[in-house]
Amino acid sequence: MTDILRDLPSLRGRIARWRANGKTVGVVPTMGALHQGHLSLALAAKAACDRVIVTIFVNPTQFNNPDDLKKYPRTEEADAALLASIGVDVVFAPPVEVVYPPGFATTVSVSGVSGPLEGTHRPGHFEGVATVVAKLFGMTTPDKAFFGQKDWQQLAVIRRMTADLNIPVQIVPCETLRDPDGLALSSRNARLSPEARAKAPVLYRAMTRAARAVAGGEPAAAALKAASAEVLAGGFSAIDYLDLCDADTLEPVSDTRRPARLLAAAWLDGVRLIDNIPAG
Ligand code: PAF
Repeated sequence: MTDILRDLPSLRGRIARWRANGKTVGVVPTMGALHQGHLSLALAAKAACDRVIVTIFVNPTQFNNPDDLKKYPRTEEADAALLASIGVDVVFAPPVEVVYPPGFATTVSVSGVSGPLEGTHRPGHFEGVATVVAKLFGMTTPDKAFFGQKDWQQLAVIRRMTADLNIPVQIVPCETLRDPDGLALSSRNARLSPEARAKAPVLYRAMTRAARAVAGGEPAAAALKAASAEVLAGGFSAIDYLDLCDADTLEPVSDTRRPARLLAAAWLDGVRLIDNIPAG
């Protein structure tokens, strides 16, 4: 039976009972609109922990566009049913005032890794993410927290923040789930028209080709240029970035001597898609 809790005393009471019985706790932070990718995180949490909490909170502080926040899909009933079907113990779905009560005045800012890529295109986004994730860790006090590699930079920011603030939680990265044609699962895919959905996999295809080219010794600049051209020729209207970066610091790199990652954000049919893959 999956309980939906909305306030902190009920959540803390539940966790205290679990702890008294020696149970370990895993958390999967989400903003709802759940798809198979989220479910795979919850299943990984169930496999690794005695009790699992999935949080559903559409965090206003990480949206730099108020319209995006208003339009963000809210599907709590369907989400809760999905989570119940896989035996998640608790859904924590607090209202905004539980997370940000009157007088709330603290922001967690992770410099360095928050700066490039998404940081450039969505100013303030990672402050919102780091702040809410620090709060969700404080509220749920988990042993392990599960995040998708689809949001690679977010994962890097959360890892940095957790290490820097000595938060006693193990961050568990989970593989990106893809449709058979390669498109990474995302709540945003539902906004694509059928025509745009058919074009979308060109992003992953072009990135894969570029990663292989770089691994094979082609200069990164040429491989990235070819990938960008392929994405635009394939129907995308604009590319925010398609870059080769150090996998941990997210600094741009031109070779794969250290573990590198190819990351991209690009626009298709008015929808901004992001993806990333290992390179080299
Ligand atoms: O990845 C998300 O869904 C959100 O950024 C997160 C981690 C739940 C914080 O609001």
